[in-house]
Amino acid sequence: MSMSTVISIKQKSEIFVGRVEDGLKRYAQNRRIVVITDANIDRLYHDIINKYEHIIIGYGEGIKNLITVQNIYARLMEIGADRSTLLVGIGGGIVTDITGFVATTYMRGLDFGFVATTLLAQVDASVGGKNGVNILNYKNMVGTFAQPSFVISDVVFLRTLPHRELHAGMGEVVKMAIIGDEELFNFIEENISASCYTNIDTMQRIVLDSIRLKADIVDRDECEKGIRRVLNLGHTIAHAIEKCTHKLNHGEAVAVGLSKISHISNAMGILSSEDMQRIDDLLQKIGFSLEIPVPLSDVIREVRHDKKKSNNLLRIVLPERIGSCRIEEMPLGDVEHILDYLR
Ligand SMILES: NC(=O)c1ccc[n+]([C@@H]2O[C@H](COP(=O)([O-])OP(=O)(O)OC[C@H]3O[C@@H](n4cnc5c(N)ncnc54)[C@H](O)[C@@H]3O)[C@@H](O)[C@H]2O)c1
Repeated sequence: MSMSTVISIKQKSEIFVGRVEDGLKRYAQNRRIVVITDANIDRLYHDIINKYEHIIIGYGEGIKNLITVQNIYARLMEIGADRSTLLVGIGGGIVTDITGFVATTYMRGLDFGFVATTLLAQVDASVGGKNGVNILNYKNMVGTFAQPSFVISDVVFLRTLPHRELHAGMGEVVKMAIIGDEELFNFIEENISASCYTNIDTMQRIVLDSIRLKADIVDRDECEKGIRRVLNLGHTIAHAIEKCTHKLNHGEAVAVGLSKISHISNAMGILSSEDMQRIDDLLQKIGFSLEIPVPLSDVIREVRHDKKKSNNLLRIVLPERIGSCRIEEMPLGDVEHILDYLR
């Protein structure tokens, strides 16, 4: 297997892509460590979890809330965790988002790190220092920006990940490639297959390139005031679909969003038909269905309710070509108008 590689963010956070044992040796020795993980990871990787004091939470988006956070605080108090304790979240994006939030608020902040075990967490959720939990029906409404000291991404974890979860991660990988890495896009076109997810070299390349791109964007705009917003490519439509139906997971909704925003960008005369077709072909080759599974009028209604709009302006990210996109601020009326291109 390839050697490990380290990428740094804001000179305060290191992302280690390599074997988990090596990463833990590097970052988590001679400290009091408390691991936060979910029940699936504990079942599959008990030998790793069992080496540390640990707190096990349930799984699923439904537990990403303040009740879970409060239970973790209570447990940390019970076992006497203090400011010198290192919190390590081992799991997917739900575990890392919750661990980051707990670590930045418990006793006003502890040192923390992640071991990312899903493709989505490796390429996206664990990178960039956003964390938080859901409030009522609204995703990630409460949270902080804070970089973990380290993230360990070991693609061997992906071998036990269900296929649908792998797909969810690939939606974000393709997004990243469209935003800023044509070579990564070409690489996926050439190497994607049902069996590629167990190929360590292929997956390390995909994970590393995606992390590099996101790390570079976060380095330039940690708090999402400008360029970081490009990471929302396809997400306005994806979030609207997720509000209308639970049939698709986030990555599947992102894939539909990427396809639809490419069609819109093409209709607006920005993206070439050839690049639009390549995007659709790649998403379908990976295995995504690109149909919106609910009436378009429902999606438009949800876009109108998008919580992120301000003064009735929405920022829409449009692909210009594979490897580049732009951000346009549009009045809601214009957004509804361009969504009509999908009819
Ligand atoms: N902070 C950010 O910047 C950011 C970015 C993107 C997504 N997110 C958040 O990430 C969350 C989704 O993350 P996710 O897709 O990783 O979901 P997840 O954490 O729910 O993991 C998916 C499922 O896979 C299981 N699992 C995890 N690793 C496994 C492995 N190696 N083998 C077998 N099963 C495994 C989990 O127990 C869970 O059931 C959402 O809440 C989303 O809001 C955050």
